[in-house]
Amino acid sequence: MENRSQWGTRAGFILAAVGSAVGLGNIWRFPYVAYDNGGGAFFLPYLIALLTAGIPILIMEFTLGHRYRGSAPLVFRKMNKKAEWLGWWQVFIAFIISTYYAVIIAWAMAYAIFSFNLSWGNDTAGFLTGDYLKLVDAGQFGSLVPSVLIPLIIVWVLVLGTLFKGVRKGIEVANKIFIPTLLVLFLIIVIRAVTLDGALQGLNAMFQPDWSQIANADVWIAAYGQIFFSLSICFAIMITYSSYLPKKSDINNNAFIAGFSNSSFELLAGIGVFSAIGFMANTTGQPVEEVVNSGVLLAFAVFPEIINQIPGIPGLFGFLFFASLVLAGMSSLISICETYIAAFQEKFNISRTKAVAIGGGLSAVISLVYATQGGLNFLDTVDHFVLSMGVGLAGLVEVIVIAWVLRKVKNLQEYNNALSDIKVGSWWVICLTVITPILMTFMMAQSIYTDLTEQYSGYPWSFLIICGWIMLALTLIAGFIFTSVKWKSGLEKQDKEVS
Ligand code: PHE
Repeated sequence: MENRSQWGTRAGFILAAVGSAVGLGNIWRFPYVAYDNGGGAFFLPYLIALLTAGIPILIMEFTLGHRYRGSAPLVFRKMNKKAEWLGWWQVFIAFIISTYYAVIIAWAMAYAIFSFNLSWGNDTAGFLTGDYLKLVDAGQFGSLVPSVLIPLIIVWVLVLGTLFKGVRKGIEVANKIFIPTLLVLFLIIVIRAVTLDGALQGLNAMFQPDWSQIANADVWIAAYGQIFFSLSICFAIMITYSSYLPKKSDINNNAFIAGFSNSSFELLAGIGVFSAIGFMANTTGQPVEEVVNSGVLLAFAVFPEIINQIPGIPGLFGFLFFASLVLAGMSSLISICETYIAAFQEKFNISRTKAVAIGGGLSAVISLVYATQGGLNFLDTVDHFVLSMGVGLAGLVEVIVIAWVLRKVKNLQEYNNALSDIKVGSWWVICLTVITPILMTFMMAQSIYTDLTEQYSGYPWSFLIICGWIMLALTLIAGFIFTSVKWKSGLEKQDKEVS
C-alpha cells in the first residue's frame, strides 16, 4: 500500500511546514510576548528555547513522520501499540483548534473589506464587540451574526476545497501561492510601518533590553510557550506533514530551515507591529504601554485605530494587514485540518474525499458556535484552555513517552543522521530527554496553578469549567474512544520498523 501521497518538491514541503508555523501567533502574539517579557532581553531565552526545544522537537517530529509514515495516531501506534491514544489526543486538540481558528480568519476577511472605507469608525473597540460581533454575555449564544457567517463559509470552502485536492495538488500548491504572497504583503506593511513618525519609539519599547527580567522564571516559560505554539509542534501537524516526505529527505536540514524561517517572520512581525504602535503612541500622545495589546484586541481594535491615522492611503495599509492575517491563518488552518483528515483516512480506510467531508464538515458545523453573538467568549476560553494548556500538556506527554517510556531517542537519532547532512549529536538527546521535559513540567505546573486559582479573563467559573476544562478533557476522552476502535485499513500492521 505504498500509494501514500507525497510532496512534489522539497520546497513544497518546507513551504507547507513554514505555512503551518507562520500563523496568527507570529503576528499578534509574538510581538507582545517579547515586549512584555524583557523586550530585547527576551531574545536570549527565546533563542535558547528555539535551540533546546523548538528545533529538537521539530527534528523529532519530522523523523517520526518520515520513519513511520503516517498520521499521528498511526505513527504512535507503530512505535508502540499502547501509545496510539497520544496521537488521537493531539488530533482532537487540533480538531477543536480548527473550529475556531477558521472564525478568526473570517473576521480578518471581513476587516480586510471594512478597511476600504474604514467602516469601524473612531471607536474601534466598540465597533468590534458592538456593531460587528454584537457580543452578548459569557455563556449566551444569541443569534448567528451574518457578517461573520458569510466570510466563515468562504474560509471553509477555500480550505476544504484545497484539502479535497490532496497533498501535492492542494496543500502544496496553496502554500506555494500563499507564503510568497504573504511575505511580499508583509514586507510592504513593515516598510510602510518603519517609515511612520514615531516608529522608533515603538521599536525602542520592544527591543530595549530589560536584563533584570532574565532571571525571572516567567520570562523563560513565556519563551518556551511561544516557541511551541509558534512552530506548530506537538499538535500532530508536523508528524503528518513529514509523513508525505519522499524516502530520501534531509530531515535535520529541513527542520533548521523551517524553524529559522518561522522565527525570522516572527521578528519581522515584531518590527512591523511595534513600529505601528510607536506611530500611534506618537500621534495620540499616549505612552506605548497604553496602546500595546495582543491577540484579538491588537488585530481588531488597536490596528484599526492605527489604520485610521495612517497618512496616505490608510485603506490600502489596512487591507494589506488583514489580507496578511488571512493568508497566514489559512495556511495554518489547512495544516491543522490535515491532521484529522489523514488520521480518519488511515484508521477507517476511507477516501480523502470522505475524510475531508466528514472531518472538515463537522469542524465547519461546530465553528458556527463561534459565529453567534456569544462567539468571542467561547472562542477566547476554548483557545486558552485547549490551545495554550492542551498543547503544553500533550507536548510534555509526547517527550516523556518517547524519551523516557519508549526510550526511542537514540534510535531516532541514528535514523535521521543517516539521512541528513547536518548530524545531530548528544545535544539533541540531552535537549529531548532532560531540558525539554523539565522546562515543560514547570511551564505546565505554573499554568495549571494559575488557571485553578484565577478566573481567566474574569469569566464565571461555571463557564470556564464547561468551555475550558471539560473541553480539554473531551479531547482526551475522544482520543481514548477512537483508540479503542478497530483499524480498518491494516496499515497499523505494516512495516513497523522500516528504516
Ligand atoms: N503556529 C501557528 C501560529 O503561530 C498556527 C497554529 C496555531 C498551528 C495553533 C496550530 C495550532 O499561529
